[in-house]
Amino acid sequence: MSILITGGAGYIGSHTCVELLNAGKDLVILDDFSNSNKEVLDNIKKITNKDFKFYEMNYLDKDKLEKIFEENKIDSVINFAGFKAVGESTEKPIEYYINNVSGALNLLDVMKKHNVKKFVFSSSATVYGNPEIIPITEDCKVGGTTNPYGTSKLFIEKILEDLYASDNTWDIAILRYFNPVGAHESGLIGENPKGIPNNLMPFIAKVATKELKELSIFGDDYDTKDGTGVRDYIHVVDLAKGHLLALDKLDKEKSGLYIYNLGTGHGYSVLEMVKTYSQVNGVDIPYKIVNRRPGDIAQCYSNPDKANKELGFKATKSLEDMCRDSYNFIKNK
Ligand code: UFG
Repeated sequence: MSILITGGAGYIGSHTCVELLNAGKDLVILDDFSNSNKEVLDNIKKITNKDFKFYEMNYLDKDKLEKIFEENKIDSVINFAGFKAVGESTEKPIEYYINNVSGALNLLDVMKKHNVKKFVFSSSATVYGNPEIIPITEDCKVGGTTNPYGTSKLFIEKILEDLYASDNTWDIAILRYFNPVGAHESGLIGENPKGIPNNLMPFIAKVATKELKELSIFGDDYDTKDGTGVRDYIHVVDLAKGHLLALDKLDKEKSGLYIYNLGTGHGYSVLEMVKTYSQVNGVDIPYKIVNRRPGDIAQCYSNPDKANKELGFKATKSLEDMCRDSYNFIKNK
């Protein structure tokens, strides 16, 4: 039996494929390379010394999706495919809703037809909007998302809840990621966004390699330890391992709909990130303080207890590991 991974060549998808292959799982990967490239697949093979089946396609193509289910014995699906740039989503809401929501619906529809009911969904802490309590637990109110990307995640979560309510033989895990950063320690896979990065860590990485001149810190007047924004940065390899644990949970249970925060439970400020990156890698990160970025919140970090208790999930990599592995990947690009 195989696990179908949509978006398996992407940042979180590729690291999860490595962990699954290392654990001896059979994979069928699909990706349209809209935000990745073929080299990632070769590097997954290099790291694991394992092979997998691959389809170059977009999951909006339902006929091709059908073919995958006909040609392979799929018993579970992890859905990473989706657009994820917050800023771009406000300019292209239709494209975001079609790709993220219609893509997920296609997948669920084809799964249903083939009686495959194990599904792990890449969601995001963004569904909590401006969180009502910190650290955030899974039963905090969701909603109040500030951009179409975040709303698309919220819609898909709602669709999954409705699906499970209609047929409780489905086995679904919704994983709400906090801020994934870092790279595989081999330096072969990591995050290398096209153009100017939106997110903090890839931006810092490009300042470290002198591709970009300086970092703009979006506000130093928040009500946080040093005035800059605080987030729960989690090493992408820790996050990837969370998927393996979520699948194990679904394999153990007959059915259910489970929601887990995947974070470390610690919040670091932008200035702490800059300082650690600079110290660990011996590089200069020039920065200037600018206005707050619209839509940003002061702080966001998880209470990871539920995932710890029910999945045995615990992030083990430190902020130093995240900064070192990020630079180790980017400096060879
Ligand atoms: N920041 C800067 N300068 C930059 C980029 C970011 O100061 O150039 C600051 C932000 O203001 C914020 C922190 O760094 O305080 C983190 O910002 P990111 O853009 O890296 O991450 P966000 O927390 O805004 O959002 C990320 C993902 C979302 C996801 C969310 C979940 O981009 O997709 O985490 O918590 F939903």
